[in-house]
Amino acid sequence: MIVIMGATGATGGALLERLADSGVPCRALSREPNRLHGKVFNRAGVDVRQADARDPDSLRAAFRGATQLFLTMTNSPDQVELETRAIEIAAECGIDHVVKLSAPTAAADSPVAIARWHHTIEEALRGSGMAHTILHPYAFMQKLLLLAPQIAAHRIITGTMGTAACNFIDCRDIADVAAAALTRSEIAGGTYTLTGSQTYSYPQITEQLSALLGVPIRYIDLSPRDFRTELVQRSGMPEWLADHVVEIQRLAATHPERPTETVAGILGRPPRTLESFLSENLDVFTQLEPATVDHSR
Ligand SMILES: NC(=O)c1ccc[n+]([C@@H]2O[C@H](COP(=O)([O-])OP(=O)(O)OC[C@H]3O[C@@H](n4cnc5c(N)ncnc54)[C@H](OP(=O)(O)O)[C@@H]3O)[C@@H](O)[C@H]2O)c1
Repeated sequence: MIVIMGATGATGGALLERLADSGVPCRALSREPNRLHGKVFNRAGVDVRQADARDPDSLRAAFRGATQLFLTMTNSPDQVELETRAIEIAAECGIDHVVKLSAPTAAADSPVAIARWHHTIEEALRGSGMAHTILHPYAFMQKLLLLAPQIAAHRIITGTMGTAACNFIDCRDIADVAAAALTRSEIAGGTYTLTGSQTYSYPQITEQLSALLGVPIRYIDLSPRDFRTELVQRSGMPEWLADHVVEIQRLAATHPERPTETVAGILGRPPRTLESFLSENLDVFTQLEPATVDHSR
């Protein structure tokens, strides 16, 4: 039995679809399991459970009897505490393999605070005695959908990474790699840096969106300080998260990113492209309100 944390999220949701399609028994967790019932209703082999990482007893009940865990968590200031606790409870419940969704540049000296958090969680996992597979994916294409209201209302994207080359990856490819690690022994146990097959700058993304939507979309480059102010004021983003977005964009600007061959090497096919992701989701970029998107498609 495989437990999927974050089964309502972009990557966990796609993993749930893959495992259910393949008939692999799995247990899908959410703090609000009603969000999953419609999606997996009557799917053979899928067990839906309520669990909250802030409630250790709910994790114990959800992990008991399982052998593998897919561990992912929304970023929050207590992410290290919550994921570390989940790791301890997984070991206590007899889980023997954890696939952890981490982040690029996860290291003790990373300039990105959330990457340092992930490093701390990885260290806890390495010290847990359980087998582990660690995924280091770059920026999720699915998060570009959060820019839709700004694009629809003002036909602009703002940022602070100039013309830097940036790796993007479709969460469905991350989920396919996670499924491989959970079902193929030769993939389990690795640490994988996951990207698409080419990099894109924000000016290149706006060029593609302009062509696809038939209207001009512009990229406006701001200073890190102005971009941070804009994130906090425009979208009401918490300050710690705005700091993260600025840090990650500045890192891309100072350390140009390069694609890896890892996804193709594991899956035997090229990663999904940004062009096809944008084309599939064009309707979202014309909506003023953030849309509910089925990430598992
Ligand atoms: N965004 C990127 O471009 C990017 C790039 C590289 C790495 N990452 C990493 O990927 C991870 C996932 O990020 P995301 O923003 O994409 O998240 P997400 O997949 O949208 O959501 C993750 C899941 O966390 C679950 N969750 C939140 N709080 C929880 C709690 N207290 N107990 C149990 N489950 C909880 C949510 O489930 P419920 O609400 O259903 O309970 C949700 O399904 C993060 O650790 C991030 O650092 C992100």
